[in-house]
Formats: sequence, structure tokens, C-alpha cells
Amino acid sequence: MSWVEALARPEIVALKVYEHAAWRPELERLHANELPWSPLGGEPRNGVNRYPEPQPRVLLERLAQLYGVAPESVLVGRGSDEAIDLLCRAFCRAGEDAVLVCPPTFGMYSVSARIQGAQVLPVPLSMERGFALDEAQVLERCTPETKLLFLCSPNNPTGNLLDERSMLRIARALAGRALVVVDEAYLEFADRPSLARHLGELENLAVLRTLSKAYGLAGARCGTLLAAPQVIRLLRKIIPPYAVPTLTLDAVLARLTPEALGAGEQQLATLLAERARLMAALPALKRITRFWPSDANFILAEFEDAGAALALGCEAGLLVRDARAYPGLGAALRITVGTPEQNTRLLEAWA
Ligand SMILES: Cc1ncc(COP(=O)(O)O)c(C=O)c1O
Repeated sequence: MSWVEALARPEIVALKVYEHAAWRPELERLHANELPWSPLGGEPRNGVNRYPEPQPRVLLERLAQLYGVAPESVLVGRGSDEAIDLLCRAFCRAGEDAVLVCPPTFGMYSVSARIQGAQVLPVPLSMERGFALDEAQVLERCTPETKLLFLCSPNNPTGNLLDERSMLRIARALAGRALVVVDEAYLEFADRPSLARHLGELENLAVLRTLSKAYGLAGARCGTLLAAPQVIRLLRKIIPPYAVPTLTLDAVLARLTPEALGAGEQQLATLLAERARLMAALPALKRITRFWPSDANFILAEFEDAGAALALGCEAGLLVRDARAYPGLGAALRITVGTPEQNTRLLEAWA
């Protein structure tokens, strides 16, 4: 039995997978109960009237190239939210296993864990050290039943990168015992290479990436898990059969052409310049008591009266995120960097 099989839920290891309609694009399809005409026009042989290829080969290869891994290490689904959910369902036995998270952090790790009936073990980031990872506490709190650890870097909602060596040491210490999932949803906004380059040497490391943030495709729903091929094969057993809609595939391939990538680079440069402009302007705003540096496309700030600041934003037609419910962030708002005009309007509203 491999370490992945030993770690996963036994019923998932034993699961007989659903046999989706065979993918034989060279033949005309009379095997999947589809309509033979495409309602949106175009070629009915491969239009939206057809079920898509389950894990489209062309997309796996393109994403593998984008993220610098082998196609066998790629699972693609409806946003990285789907990968988080699949990980919890594949590895955590309800009522027995646990997921470790480092709050304040992205809420879906705990939500997916709880839906699966897994315990959530919180090991807070250290606010005094700029929301740094508490490596010693993480290792100490990890029980034999802790199957997954979610480390978010850059972290949402605090915006900071976690220490790379700490994350690698944690993964090494838990080799064969738990899967360490590093969520790099915002990595394109930071000046740091992906931890995916360590996948070959650390089999229990997994990395989440998404096209929802820097690539501007939140509405297309395309997220990727990068992990050891055994982990990917396990999750392919439970991902719904047609998890990549045809319209998503078209949008993603169009976004990853050289021309679109070039235009995207320019947008990213504008966004980073705007983040710097906001950071430089915040100290002059009296209602802001404190804010943190950001390696993401948002800034976390604490306010004298966060409710009033939220309302002023709304009056200016701008919605920022109320972060007051996060542990330790009782007066904070999270500001997504917008267009230059939007950012100016927000600064004026809070002046
Ligand atoms: C840290 C983090 N991970 C994952 C996600 C989910 O992204 P998606 O499902 O759009 O890929 C988000 C969304 O806000 C996020 O902030």
C-alpha cells in the first residue's frame, strides 16, 4: 500500500469509479444521450451540446507548462475551492480525522473540513510577527489523525507570504503522515517562485493555484491542484465526471495565448503600481489606525470605526470586505486593489 493509500479514506481507495462516456473524439457520438445540434451555433461535433472531455488533455498540458510541473501532477476543477473540497473528502474520515488551519485565513478550508465532518485544528498566525507561521505550534498540534494542513501564502486576508523554509520543514517533518497544502492563489502578485518546484522531492507537498485572481478569470471557475501523481489519481476518482465546462476551457485557452499573456502582464504591472500608491496614501488617512504590507492584490487595514469606513465606501459606490469576523481582526477591512479611478475614489471617501 502506498503512503497516499494509507493516508486516504479506505472507502475512497476502494471506490469503483464512475465510468463516464468514453472520450473518442474521432468518432461521432451516439453514446452520451446528448442532442446532436449545438444551440449556440458552431460545430455540433464539439459544441456545448456535448459533454466535455473530463480532464481536458490540452488544458492539463497548458497548465502544467504554466506552473512548471508534469501534466500527471495536475488536477483541474471548478476553482481551487473544488480542490479544497475534494482533498477534505478524499482524506478525512468523518468524526475521526482533522484538518489544521492557520487563522486568520481563507474560510473555505474550515468550511470544507466541517462539511466532511472533520475536526478543525486552528494554529493562529503570529500577529506580533506580521502574521508569521508558528512552525513549532503547527508541528506540536498535528495529531496522527491530522490528514491535511492548509497554509495560505500569500495569506488571505492578511496579505503576507509565509516563510518558505518553515513550510518546507513542516512538509518534511510530516512526510508520509499528512499532506501539506500550500495555497498560492495570490502568488502572481508576490515576488516569489512557487513551492511547486519542490513537488518532486516532497511527495506530501501539494500546491493550489487559480486563474481567478491575477489571470482575471474568476467567472470561468478554473483552479488547479499540483501534487504527486498518486494524489492526483486519487482525487480523479471522486471529482465529478465533467468538471471543466466547454465554455471554461475556451476562455482559459484564450487567456493563455501569448498575446493575452502579454496584455495580462501590463494589467499586473498597473495593479502592483496601484497597490504601492494605496500603501503610500494610507498613512495620511486618520481613520486608519494600522495596516499591513501586502504581497497580494488586497490590503488589510484596521480602522478607528470600521463600520463607518465601510458605510463611507458604500456611499462612494465601493464595497470593501468586512474582515471584522476574522479572529484577532475586530476592526479590520480588506481592500481589493481596483482600477486607478476606483482607488482614488476610495481614498477620497476616506480622506
Ligand atoms: C486563498 C484563496 N484560496 C482559494 C480561493 C478560491 O479561489 P477559486 O475557487 O476562485 O480558484 C480564494 C478565493 O478568494 C482564496 O482567497
